[in-house]
Amino acid sequence: MKFQIWIRRLFRQIKGVNPFGGDCLPSRVPLFSLGRPAAPIPLPWNYKEPIRIFEAFYFGTAKETGWGEHNRYLYSAGFPPVLVTRDPGIIKAIQANTGDKPGQFDRDTSPTAGIARATGEDSLLYANGAIWRRQKSLVAKPFSRSNLFQPQKFQGFEQTFRKTVKKRLELLRSLQEARGERKTRLELEPEIKVVMLEMLVNNFFGGTVTYDELKDRFVPALVYMIDHMVRDTVAPRAQAIARKFSGGEKILQQHQAAFEELTDIALAGRARGLGLWKEFKSDASDDALRSNIRVFLAGAMEATTSFATWAISHLSRSPEWQDKVYEEVKEMDVYDPDDFTGAPHLNRVLEETLRLTPALYFFPRKATVDTWVETSDHRKMMIPKDTHIRLDVWHSNRCEEFWGEDVTGYRADIFAPERWDVIKEKGLSAKEMLHFGFGHGPRFCPGRSLGLLEVGLVVGAIVKLFKVEAVHDHAGPSAGVSTKPADAVLVDLELRRSGR
Ligand code: HEM
Repeated sequence: MKFQIWIRRLFRQIKGVNPFGGDCLPSRVPLFSLGRPAAPIPLPWNYKEPIRIFEAFYFGTAKETGWGEHNRYLYSAGFPPVLVTRDPGIIKAIQANTGDKPGQFDRDTSPTAGIARATGEDSLLYANGAIWRRQKSLVAKPFSRSNLFQPQKFQGFEQTFRKTVKKRLELLRSLQEARGERKTRLELEPEIKVVMLEMLVNNFFGGTVTYDELKDRFVPALVYMIDHMVRDTVAPRAQAIARKFSGGEKILQQHQAAFEELTDIALAGRARGLGLWKEFKSDASDDALRSNIRVFLAGAMEATTSFATWAISHLSRSPEWQDKVYEEVKEMDVYDPDDFTGAPHLNRVLEETLRLTPALYFFPRKATVDTWVETSDHRKMMIPKDTHIRLDVWHSNRCEEFWGEDVTGYRADIFAPERWDVIKEKGLSAKEMLHFGFGHGPRFCPGRSLGLLEVGLVVGAIVKLFKVEAVHDHAGPSAGVSTKPADAVLVDLELRRSGR
């Protein structure tokens, strides 16, 4: 049967039959093409540049008419189609229709096979169907906005967060003062990563891991494991052989052991109701929670670091917005839910950061049956069963047609938090201007409130203590599991005298 399907598909591919249906048909991407930025599939020599692989899908689309410019598909060698879309209407419709109901889209697990091998297949991030639903209901309460943002709980939690961030930054500041330096040149990404993991392990899970242990052992282990997950997805066999001959197997085992140890530390607070564990009510065994804890540790450190590093990276090239945020946070000693809304400039900077440089740059989906989707402006598309879908939010959010001068008053590909005022003045609603920074629909990010809290605190604290100036004019993206500024946020830090 499978062979018959393959032959039928191959025949249709050779004949050039479009397998999609509806009135916003995707157009076909040739497998080979001269002058393209990259091949349109991940290969051992281009997988480190996934954003360029997506770019290859839009190469030469200027000649396309209709929605074929933004919806593209690859169809070859008898394989199911791969649909790449930067059409926000289609992205939203597919997101809204992803879940455990019959006929809904699944998360496509093929681009995350390495994540599953390292963290477990039953995590909230990886699982589909009934397992996903169960995991989702387990984490709902501790992560909920109403839980984290209840003034009393929030303030206790926030105070600890703030202490953590401030302590680290003060250390940096005393070093600077001791050396008598006015400016210090450094990469901020490694600093931010440790702070993010410290907040998660010690504040959220109630652990007591020292800063040095996190910096010297656990952060390097997580960084290695996250890198390993990407390599292990793209070329698992080649990687395994390479490790065997280079002694890499031992290094992998060491980092795996550290990852497990950190998972044990995070789980240990459960029995004593430490950190946010006290909000967690379930009779699930610790073992049943392990894969989720691994995903939270690696995924949350990665996503919050990405978000905060991009925000600082943009501010370091925008002194005007840095000053606006500074004026807002300089007197702020306690963030509470009201102060969050009372920091409109910081909020706009964070919103614009997620739009222009989203941490998660694409979402993988898979059609479980032939599925019709309909956009808010009543366009329809039939997506055939087994289609691998890549919702390409990176390019969608940079598309002039959807986010450019005509719509938001500013070019789509620049950092301009002012555009959110224009959007508001035009009366465009949040639903109409989705940037998908935390996803959309049933698989929306459960860590949004926690992540926003962490990133708001870290970015606010850095701006309050330092003036930050980028060393280079421009920082492109480096993309793996998430995106980050390729220059690791190389900046000159200058103490603000009044920032104590
Ligand atoms: C602030 C930075 C963060 C950003 C930008 C972010 C972004 C996202 C996005 C875009 C998705 C949707 C993926 C998709 O639809 O395929 C997602 C899902 C998810 N996020 Fe986050 N996230 C952040 C922080 C966190 C934190 C702090 C946690 C947990 C501690 C977390 C845990 C998850 C999980 C488990 C999912 C999968 C949910 C599901 O599939 O049902 N995230 N995140």
